[in-house]
Amino acid sequence: MGEPTQKKTPGQIVAPRLDWLEGEVPRAEAFDDTYFSRAGGLEETRHVFLAGNGLPERWQGRESFAIAEFGFGTGLNFLTTLKALKAQKVLEKGAAPPHLTFISFELYPMTRDQLARALGVFPELAQEAAELIAQWQPEPGWTKLAFAGADLWLGIGDAREMIADLRRGGEGTPSGPVDAWYLDGFSPAKNPELWDEDLLKTAFEVTAAGGTFATYTAAGWVRRNLASAGFTVEKQKGFAGKREMVAGRKDQL
Ligand SMILES: C[S@@+](CC[C@H](N)C(=O)[O-])C[C@H]1O[C@@H](n2cnc3c(N)ncnc32)[C@H](O)[C@@H]1O
Repeated sequence: MGEPTQKKTPGQIVAPRLDWLEGEVPRAEAFDDTYFSRAGGLEETRHVFLAGNGLPERWQGRESFAIAEFGFGTGLNFLTTLKALKAQKVLEKGAAPPHLTFISFELYPMTRDQLARALGVFPELAQEAAELIAQWQPEPGWTKLAFAGADLWLGIGDAREMIADLRRGGEGTPSGPVDAWYLDGFSPAKNPELWDEDLLKTAFEVTAAGGTFATYTAAGWVRRNLASAGFTVEKQKGFAGKREMVAGRKDQL
């Protein structure tokens, strides 16, 4: 374990070095891991992050809903969530879905070309992806991007430092409470920074009572960090070939 080999100095933006498995699935060289499952990124997001957090069901009757994510990567999770939000409006026969605040942290933002290539393999998301790519200009610190029905707060920097902003809030900064967490760092063995005990403790603090998390990994030390942060932790069936994943909640007091 240890810091990845790709280094940056504070305030400097470093795009990831990628290779492309089967010509389609981006893999970060520094972490030796892919951004999403080779068995189907979109279906993985729906299974792990949406269903794992009880979405879209939990949107019903809500005026606003906040999701936070560790690791923006390609934006696939955000765009899939945005798509589900629009579909919800159709299902509810026009009743307004909640306004979505989506907060995501990213230390190594992709270039526009990398993003476009990664998202190009999901024709279902073409419209949402085009809106993201048109606005994509990552800068260190917080930037708010506007979408129909949603705001995306992009935190470019190390999540372990920027997470404290959610506690403080204020001008130009998103704030809690967070209703659902997408814990989507690279594999815990390769990217332990995003599964760090203190990071998860702060995530718990800014989570609404009854708020939830979901993640694709069921690594024992990650489960222990989540439990010691205060979350209840439950194993669920994983996506595709994976036996297990983990989801849980912050119980109401
Ligand atoms: C598995 S990928 C995320 C995939 C993403 N959710 C998607 O929809 O494409 C993990 C991401 O975490 C980012 N990351 C790794 N360490 C980080 C850190 N300390 N702070 C913020 N982001 C980090 C990586 O650069 C990478 O983009």
